[in-house]
Amino acid sequence: MSANILAHSRADERRSQADETDVILTGDRPTGSLHLGHYAGSLRSRLALQGRCAQTLLIADLQALTDSSGRAAQVARHVPEVALDYLAVGIDPARTTIAVQSRLSALAELTVLYLNLVTVARLERNPTVKAEVELRGFERDIPAGFLCYPVSQAADITGFRATVVPVGDDQLPMIEQTNEIVRQVNRLAKASVLPECRALLSSTPRLPGVDGRKASKSLGNAIPLSATPDEIHRLVRAMYTDPGHVRASDPGRVEGNVVFAYLDAFDPDPTAVNELKERYRGGGLGDVALKRRLEGVLEALVAPIRARRAELARDRAYVMDVLRAGNERANATAESVLRDVRGAFALDA
Ligand code: TRP
Repeated sequence: MSANILAHSRADERRSQADETDVILTGDRPTGSLHLGHYAGSLRSRLALQGRCAQTLLIADLQALTDSSGRAAQVARHVPEVALDYLAVGIDPARTTIAVQSRLSALAELTVLYLNLVTVARLERNPTVKAEVELRGFERDIPAGFLCYPVSQAADITGFRATVVPVGDDQLPMIEQTNEIVRQVNRLAKASVLPECRALLSSTPRLPGVDGRKASKSLGNAIPLSATPDEIHRLVRAMYTDPGHVRASDPGRVEGNVVFAYLDAFDPDPTAVNELKERYRGGGLGDVALKRRLEGVLEALVAPIRARRAELARDRAYVMDVLRAGNERANATAESVLRDVRGAFALDA
């Protein structure tokens, strides 16, 4: 496993970007609105890739149900919300396809076929699944759909013949498992019907929540993409800094300091941030002044997103049209992949 992760990251260094022949696919579970962690980690690179390569963003509502079936209505409600977030940050539906997983029945059929190529033991060994099972406290009550979601994700990726998947490093095992399935399908078909894919890792480290823990909607420690000025103020004020940095004149720690993590991710002037780090380390820079700078940086980033989101939210029919057109385009691709994979299983009569 670790050897494969290394192989992936070395390949990423060589070709840290995608080229025009690449096909890009990423997905988000619609369990809440997107936040600044999503922006730093993936939305920014999706914006950069837009127009350069074929790109699809999949709103993975079926995957969200694998651990949230009791919250189905909430998942359904968040589908258009995630689409609004995409559009608000500047995803252009004329250049990037936005599609909804549950509307692409070919993906479900691909999943059923791929399930024959994967053992339960292999799924239980998937490090991402393992970590999530622990996090959710499933123990022996793992929903079968949850255990199998890497297979459904392989269907998402191959259903678009994707070659590049921009994800966080927690998703590397998913890419690896997808490529195992790809090789098996190609072996069955005795032809290269599916391309292998590689991860495109974000160069920004994962952005923590304001309390320094993993950013999550349920912990209320993430800054929403369209936070109000008040929310920004409140969340920046609450940010974890260095508990040993009591007076402005005390030397402070930069590592593990959430304010610096956000400045590193979003401040347009990295030279100035480095100077602030020096002053903070040496003593003489207070948390209040530092947080005031971050508030300004975040408000400048968020204000146009918030305005555009509010404008789009008044035009639900437009958002629905975008999804309908995206689903139609995505369906055509996924159906053609399904034809090939059915052929590999001798189901092409
Ligand atoms: N598993 C991803 C996450 O939790 C979401 C996702 C679903 C995805 N399908 C995908 C990511 C396909 C990349 C490709 O964030």
